[in-house]
Amino acid sequence: MILVTGGAGFIGANFVLDWRERCDEPVVNLDKLTYAGNLGNLAALKGDAKHVFVHGDIGDRALVESLLATHRPRAIINFAAESHVDRSIHGPAAFIETNVVGTFSLLEAARAYWAALPEVERARFRFVQISTDEVYGSLAPGAPSFAETCAYEPNSPYSASKASSDHLVRAYHHTYGLPTLTTNCSNNYGPRQFPEKLIPLMLHCALAGKPLPVYGDGLHVRDWLYVGDHCAAICAVIERGRPGETYNVGGNAEMANLDVVRTLCRILAAHKPGCNAEERITFVKDRLGHDRRYAIDASKIRRELGWSPRETFESGISRTVRWYLDNEAWLAAVASKEYQKWISLNYAAQAA
Ligand code: NAD
Ligand code: TYD
Repeated sequence: MILVTGGAGFIGANFVLDWRERCDEPVVNLDKLTYAGNLGNLAALKGDAKHVFVHGDIGDRALVESLLATHRPRAIINFAAESHVDRSIHGPAAFIETNVVGTFSLLEAARAYWAALPEVERARFRFVQISTDEVYGSLAPGAPSFAETCAYEPNSPYSASKASSDHLVRAYHHTYGLPTLTTNCSNNYGPRQFPEKLIPLMLHCALAGKPLPVYGDGLHVRDWLYVGDHCAAICAVIERGRPGETYNVGGNAEMANLDVVRTLCRILAAHKPGCNAEERITFVKDRLGHDRRYAIDASKIRRELGWSPRETFESGISRTVRWYLDNEAWLAAVASKEYQKWISLNYAAQAA
C-alpha cells in the first residue's frame, strides 16, 4: 500500500491512474480538493476497492497519523501543493501554508510512523517529494542545464516555497535518517491539467475562440515533460532510487513559449480543420519576476535508474490535444465561476 497526497490534481491523478493500471498495490489518496483538485480526474477508479480517497489536508497531523496507522503504507509520495506561479504572485500565503508548513507536518507524521516500524518495513519505507526545476532559478541562454548539484536560487513565491519544503525533506534525511527522495521535474503537460497553466489555458482559449495571451516577448524557455513519462520516472525512483538522493526529470524538449503555442495551434488545426487559433496569439504584459529559461540535465536518472522519456514533444502534444478534444465536458466543468474570476484577475493585471 502506498499513500499519495494531492492525487486529485493533475500529476497526482495521472500517477494514481497509472499506478492502478500498472500493479495491484492499493493506494490511499489524500487530497484537500482545492480549486485544482478534481474528483472527476479519478472517475475511472469508481468501484476500485484498492483506491481509497480521503478528503483532507496534509497539514492535519491527526488525520495523517491515523491514515498511516490504519493503512501502514510502504511509501508516501507527496504531490500536494499550491502549484501555479501566477497565483503565488497574487497570493503567496497559501503557498507557505501548504508547501512549507503542510510538508513540515507531513514529514513529522512520517518520521514518527517510520521510527516505530519493525526493522524490515523501516528499511524499505520511502518518502518521495515531488519538486520542480524552478527551485534552481533562471538560466542564461546557452548556459548548461540544471544538474542535481546546482544551487537552489528560487525567484517566485511558488519556487521559494517548494525550495523550502525540499530543504526540510533533505534535513529529515540528514538528521533523522528518514529515507527521502526528491524529484525535480520540468514543466509537465498532458491530460487533466487545470487550464491555468500554459498548454491547457491556450487550448481552452483556442477552443473558446478567445485571444491566446503570451507573456512578454514569448521567448521564455521551458523544458516540456509528458505527464505519463513523469509518472514512470516517479515509479523508478520509488523502486530503485537511493534514499537521500535527488533526481532531475526532463522531457528533452526545450522550447520557447511562442513555439509551444504555435505548435499547439498547428496540431489543433490538424484535428479541427478551420480552427484558426494561431491568428489570435496576443502578446500581453510580462509576469513579474518571470524566469527566462529552465533546462534539465536528466543524465543521472537515466544512468542510475534506466529512465528516459518515451514521448517527443510532438507525440505528447498530439495525445494531449486529442484528450482535450475528446473531453470537452471535463474542460467545461472545470471552467467554473471561480476559474473565470481568476482569469479576470490575472489577465486584467497582464493587460494593464
Ligand atoms: P495541481 O495544482 O494540479 O494539484 C495539486 C493537488 O494538491 C490538488 O488536487 C489539490 O487539491 C491538492 N492539495 C493542495 N493543497 C493541499 C493540502 N494542503 N493537502 C492535501 N492536498 C492538497 O498540481 P500538479 O501540477 O499536479 O503538481 C503536483 C506536484 O508536482 C506539485 O508539488 C508541484 O509543485 C509539482 N510540479 C508540478 C509541475 C507541473 O508542471 N505541473 C512541474 C514541476 C513540479
Ligand atoms: P506555466 O504553465 O504557468 O508554468 P511555469 O511558470 O511554472 O513555467 O507557464 C509556462 C510558461 O508560459 C511561462 O514562461 C509563463 C508562460 N505563460 C504565458 O506566456 N501565458 C500564460 O497565460 C501563462 C499561464 C503562462
